[in-house]
Amino acid sequence: MSLLEQTAAWVKAHHAGDSSGHDWWHIDRVRRMALRLAQDEGADPFVTELAALLHDVGDWKFHNGDEKAGSRIAREWLMTHHAAEDLVVHVCGIIDQLSFKGAGVNTDMPSIEGRCVQDADRLDAIGAIGVGRAFAFGGKFGRPMYDPDIPPELHATFAAYKSKGGPTLNHFSEKLLLLRDRMQTAAGKRLAASRHEFLETFLQRFLAEWSGDA
Ligand code: ADP
Ligand code: NI
Repeated sequence: MSLLEQTAAWVKAHHAGDSSGHDWWHIDRVRRMALRLAQDEGADPFVTELAALLHDVGDWKFHNGDEKAGSRIAREWLMTHHAAEDLVVHVCGIIDQLSFKGAGVNTDMPSIEGRCVQDADRLDAIGAIGVGRAFAFGGKFGRPMYDPDIPPELHATFAAYKSKGGPTLNHFSEKLLLLRDRMQTAAGKRLAASRHEFLETFLQRFLAEWSGDA
């Protein structure tokens, strides 16, 4: 089996049983979207696919906020499989920079492969799938769906973003609605515009039903 095939099989087992929107099919969608963006952008498909497959193996949200867990676990896996050091550095650098870390925190990606994976991951957080994932995550972590008495916050630091625990609907203003303007690839920007519009329609409808106007 090739390194990509071995990694896909390991990652699939690693994410088995997840019900927070970080299941294998999230990884598979991100991998397929990242490869599509990579083709348009002229990025290296091998690095792109490897980073997409490994991007959530050690997500800080599931490792007590440890923001280096992802790159550490990915590095161990790649080294066990004798990957070249420059490949390990590139893939682990992408994983370190990938995650959204709060409204005021810069997470620019130095490489085009990183930008393809980051755009693909962010596209999966918006649109209809994004709505589904947000409520799956909120339910899994005991968040209320909505509480009109708790206003959203724009977090200036990763520490503030990490420690938040508000209702799922606040996550839309704290993160999901900010993603469209942070997309970095041409196709990513186009798809994000349409998924963003769907988020706005969903929110309008949710609030109209809440107040009894629809
Ligand atoms: P990132 O690394 O940028 O957070 P992920 O692939 O880990 O990207 O997926 C993040 C997704 O997890 C969000 O888009 C959302 O669906 C869900 N999520 C994270 N935090 C929250 C939250 N506080 N409330 C609801 N959903 C959340
Ligand atoms: Ni992800």
